[in-house]
Amino acid sequence: MDGSMLTRMLAPETEDFLSDVTEGLSAARKSLPCKYFYDRIGSQLFDEICTLEEYYPTRTETALLRDTAGEIAGLAGPGISLVELGSGSSVKVRILLDALEVPAMYVPVDISQDHLIMAAARLSSDYPGLAVAPVVADYVREFPLPPGIPTERVLAFFPGSTIGNFRPAEAIGFLNQLGRRLGSGSRLLVGVDLRKDPEVLEAAYDDARGVTAAFNLNLLVRINRELDGDFDLDGFAHRARYDAARGRIEMHLVSLARQTVRVAGRAFLFEEGESIHTENSYKYSVPGFRRLAARAGWGCDRSWTDPDRLFSLHWMVWTKRG
Ligand code: AVI
Repeated sequence: MDGSMLTRMLAPETEDFLSDVTEGLSAARKSLPCKYFYDRIGSQLFDEICTLEEYYPTRTETALLRDTAGEIAGLAGPGISLVELGSGSSVKVRILLDALEVPAMYVPVDISQDHLIMAAARLSSDYPGLAVAPVVADYVREFPLPPGIPTERVLAFFPGSTIGNFRPAEAIGFLNQLGRRLGSGSRLLVGVDLRKDPEVLEAAYDDARGVTAAFNLNLLVRINRELDGDFDLDGFAHRARYDAARGRIEMHLVSLARQTVRVAGRAFLFEEGESIHTENSYKYSVPGFRRLAARAGWGCDRSWTDPDRLFSLHWMVWTKRG
């Protein structure tokens, strides 16, 4: 395989945005899957969130990766293939790519096709010796690996605490499916946000400049555009609260009045104060996350945290056969 970007793009699973929205808005407690945040504008807003003062996870994980990259490279050894799940702008992975000893291939997997292609092209030109094989897919489902990937030495990279956007039982199911997909000998480097002062957590999801609010409301903009919806954006407000009992931040869009909204010809009634639950972001303790991963079949060899114990990174080994 030469260093040029693999041009063969693998088709995404067909997503049924309409049926997910219809189902979510018809439920007694309205909800929408958070994966639909990431259209072009949503991906840009998320990139902006990552630069906010209040949103500590990105800079903390980045610093932690810098501090541990040498050790990680030692654990990975030479010639490993890196598969990044939800690669977005492929920024953090550069820290690993700079440290790893002759990585064999980089496979960014992301559902947002335009964003993925642009990021892969930039990365490919910055790392001319590296085979970059982007895969457009919803990595939560079965996703195809590019042909020619040396499957016996794969490191899955799942940064950003995206695992926190799964409910714990779903996280176990997802991690188990990932291990089975990648097979024996696979490794996983996962970033996990930690439990902390609720004020710090709530500020991270309700920033002063309103970028997270715009990110949340963009879901309604997307429904209006793609599904012929008529959400009045001034009729809904962003809300983020930490539920300490469940250990999760919940994001909602709260209806400011009694109103009816139409999507693709169907009417949905909202009472004043009724909300659409748009995202969960679970926070873990280090032992709590290690227990969860063990239940999924991943043994944790190493965990690192920053000095303020805001964020953690875990080096995992798939313990099951196959
Ligand atoms: C992608 N994910 C890990 C982010 C989080 O922190 O849960 C998404 C996000 N939602 C609001 N701000 C950031």
